[in-house]
Formats: sequence, C-alpha cells, structure tokens
Amino acid sequence: MSCEDDFPFRSSRWFQPHTMRAFAHRQRALQMGFRKKDFMNKPIIGIINTWSDLSTCHGHLRERADDVRKGIWMAGGVPMELPVMGLGEVVQKPTTMLYRNLLAIEVEENIRSHPIDGVVLLGGCDKTTVGLLMGAISAGVPCIFMPAGPMLASTWRGELIGTGTHTRKFWDELRAGTITMEQWEEFEAVSCRSHGTCNTMGTASTMTSLTEALGLALPGSVCIPAVDAAHIRMAVDCGERIVEMVKEHLVPSRILTRQALLNAAVVDMAIGGSTNAAVHLMAIAERAGVEFSLADLDEAGRRVPVIVNLLPAGKYLMEHLYNAGGIPAVESVIRDYLDLSVMTCTGRTLGENIAGAKVLDEDVIHPLSRPIAEGDGLAVLHGNLAPNGAVIKASAANPSLFVHKGKAVVFENIREMYAHIDDPDLDVDENSVLVLKNGGPVGAPGMPEWGGLPIPRKLLQKGVRDMVRISDARMSGTHFGTVVLHVCPEAAVGGPLALVRNGDEILLDVPSRRLELLVDDAELEKRRAAWKAPVFSEKRGYVPMYRAHVTQADRGCDFDFLEGSEALPEPEIY
Ligand code: FES
Repeated sequence: MSCEDDFPFRSSRWFQPHTMRAFAHRQRALQMGFRKKDFMNKPIIGIINTWSDLSTCHGHLRERADDVRKGIWMAGGVPMELPVMGLGEVVQKPTTMLYRNLLAIEVEENIRSHPIDGVVLLGGCDKTTVGLLMGAISAGVPCIFMPAGPMLASTWRGELIGTGTHTRKFWDELRAGTITMEQWEEFEAVSCRSHGTCNTMGTASTMTSLTEALGLALPGSVCIPAVDAAHIRMAVDCGERIVEMVKEHLVPSRILTRQALLNAAVVDMAIGGSTNAAVHLMAIAERAGVEFSLADLDEAGRRVPVIVNLLPAGKYLMEHLYNAGGIPAVESVIRDYLDLSVMTCTGRTLGENIAGAKVLDEDVIHPLSRPIAEGDGLAVLHGNLAPNGAVIKASAANPSLFVHKGKAVVFENIREMYAHIDDPDLDVDENSVLVLKNGGPVGAPGMPEWGGLPIPRKLLQKGVRDMVRISDARMSGTHFGTVVLHVCPEAAVGGPLALVRNGDEILLDVPSRRLELLVDDAELEKRRAAWKAPVFSEKRGYVPMYRAHVTQADRGCDFDFLEGSEALPEPEIY
C-alpha cells in the first residue's frame, strides 16, 4: 500500500484500505477488544510513556497514562499507550545523556511506523523531556508534553532541602567532618518525599519549564506537584487537547519557530535555569530546523535578570513556584522580553495564554525592579581554551571568582581525579583552577555530569567551598559553584583542553566572556603535534556508534544523522 491522501487521518491509511494488510490491522485491533466503531475514522493518539520501575521520578506515570487515556476517549480519540525507555537520571550508568538520542530514535520510529495521529509525551526526569521532544518533533505529528511534575518539598532539621543541591552540599560537609554519618543517613531518608522530578531548578525543572515556554506543554502545567490532584486533572486536559490538536493539524513546526526558541532562552534566564539547557535547546532547534545558537543564549543572559528565587541560585523549590503562579506568572513579569504572538499547543498565542496570570508570592517570583541576579544567568565564554564556546551559570557561581587567574591542576580523566582529589600531597590551593579532561560527549562517553568537581578535602577542611573548575563535561543543574562547562571542542577530539598541563595559567573573565589558556602559541603547537587521540576499547554495541556520530556541545550532542528538519517518509507496506 502506498500513502493515500484522501483519508481523514494518518492512521486511516493503516485501517481503511481494501487490502489484506489493512484487514490484518483491523483484525488485530479487534483482537485487542476494540470494536470497529471505536477506532475507525477517529484520531489515534499515542501515549508515549517513560514509566519504568527504574525511572524513579516517574513512579506515578502508569496511573497518569490512564488519566490521559480518559481525556482522549472523552474528546473522541482512541488512546494507545506505547512504553519507551525511562532514563531514570540517578540510577542509570554511566549517564542518561548517553541514551537521550536513543530515546529520541525510539520515539520517532514508534510514531513513524505505527498508526499514530498525535502523541502525548509523558516524562520529566532530565533527558526524558528532551528525548521525547526530539523524537516527536522529527516525527512531525501533533504533540503535547505531559510533565511528571516535581516531587514535594522536603525539610531536614528545619532547613528546606532541595534534591541534588543539598546532596552535594552535605556530602562536602561530611567530607569536611562537619556533619556525622548518622546525620547524613537521616538526611538521605527524608530528601525525596514523593513521586516526581527533582524539586530544585535543576535540569528537570528547567527543561519542563522551557517546554512550557516553547508552547509544547499546557500553560501552568509544569510546576504542578506530581502528587497533587490538579496533576490528575492536567493529565486529562492533555488527553482532551491532543485530539483537538490533531483536528487542527497543529504540528510542532507551527509552534517551534525561532521566536519560540528565543522566548525559551529568555525564560531560561529568568528562572536561573540549568546549564544543561544550553545543550538541549541546541538539539531541539536542530531538529526543528530553526536557527538558534549559543550566541542567542548569551544575548538573553546579558539582558534578562534572574527573577525566580529557587535553589540552587535562590532558596525555594518547585512547589513554591507552583503556589506563586508557575511559569505563566513568570512570563507575565518578563512579558516585555517575550514575543507574545507565538502559537502554542492550546491553539492560542502565548499572550492569550498568560493574559490572566498573576504573581501570588513576590518572594518566590521577584519583580523586575528587585531581581535575584542582574543578568548572566548563563554566560557563554570563548577564547583559545574554548574556540567553540563554554558555559558558566553565573547566577549560581561566586562573583569574587568571576575574574580569576590561577594555575591549572589537571586530571586527565575522572578516574585520575577521584584517585587524587583528596590526596593530602595534591599541589593545590584555593586559587588553583581544577581542570578535568575527557568528560565530553566522545571522551566520557555521553558527557556525564562530572563538571562540578569536588573541592579537595584539604581545602574543604580550611573552609574553602568554591573554586574555579573547568571541564568538557556537564554539571547537574541542581549544583552550584564557579564551574565552567561544555568546553568545546572537547579534549578527546583534540580540543585545546587536551593541551593543558599542570601549572599552566588560565584566565576566566566572565564579564568579558573570556576563557584563555595563558601559554604561548609556539608551545601550544608543540603540544598539539605530540597529542595522540585516545583509543577506546569498546568494539561492539551502542557506544562505538555513539562516539562515531555524536556532535559537540555547541550543536546539541545529537547524532549527525538525526539532525535536520526533513521529515522521513511514512513506511510503505505491501
Ligand atoms: Fe529524576 Fe532529578 S533524578 S528529575
């Protein structure tokens, strides 16, 4: 059967023709207990679900899929749930980033090869949001993102604690000897209170917030706590709305314009978003075929102040942002920076979506006259150490280190770093610059969140809690510190980071956006001539393919063969 255009829906091409294959498709739908009138001439909606027992933030998504299903039936569609890989951020080794593109492939090919007219994407834990979006964008059918929602806020000994942020903070205190093992275990037991994603403005909250800013999630949806009754109602709304989107042919390309990406960059700065957004927005833009670069992020960073007071840059959690009005309230404050005319998944413009939005707590969402930080939520650095860019989240860094010159303490890889970081004989002081190589997309592989290098124990014991750290890796969005990330090109492909040696002077200058290795060109050329590319041991499996095709951080670390907005043809069957 070839594609036929006179059917009401894409899925009709599977079920309606007078052919033996279409007979078999109908036969198998009947086998599932559907009646013919249930699935003929109705939009078939895929519920693409990242639930798994090891996707720990998504423990409630099996039930939510049923809530979505209810909304789809009520709106006259036909729900079909499709499980995809869960990418549980904390549990999966070596890093979920290694598998983000695999999830994207799985989503795209699931849609492409099945009778699916539109999809609801169920996810939220870090890479799931992005992998789901990348796949759905490439598949080109209408899609709406149903966020898992943040877990409830926790306290320990009277202190509000944020997932990730306080793990690192208290780990450092444990290593410094200022808290006991017993206290550490007490903290461990209370720090994740419910289903849901990390409750700080880490990567999960950043990417779900930016999905709402892009127009691909319902207004106000991403801050609803996972276990709130409003979350169930939102899931039903997603099911209802996707059926209408199919009828309106509201495909991603009508929503994901350059203006939408620029809006996302603005919201990213206002919320003090994770550095990981710098990689993921590039990948989304590449898939959408929209021109967008690190320069756009830097430009937004210079203009837009941080106004959302959430950990790690501020003090509150996602539940507080929900009570303060959520992303629509944030957008209402920064409306003059946004293009309000963009189309969204509601079928209305962003301006129409946020018309009634109000800030309900000005200590959580600050007015522009009283920002948390004046700008530089994210700064993009260039220089001879990062010709294609590097990033720093200035709002979560120490301003006294924004301009800093120090001697490099170099670790060739993560194993060497962990073997020596707490060595009392390590030649390091608080002015040193810690450098980690081979943590990039090819070198690690998968660009893990190794960039927030631990402070050496002997400095912790002297009271040092921050110092300049530089790597080609990423950092958890829940962490903080003066940490330069995503140095590009990475060391493993011969980027200048590979040439740094112990004792070299490095200059970080955030206001001037510079990152320089203060070694003369002749010496660098000598080192470059002597550099040898790493030899990797894996010969079979996914990793060699990943290494051969992953792009660098400035292009989003997608696979080179998946970039571009050209739609793949619907498979033909005979
Ligand atoms: Fe799932 Fe942080 S571990 S969102």
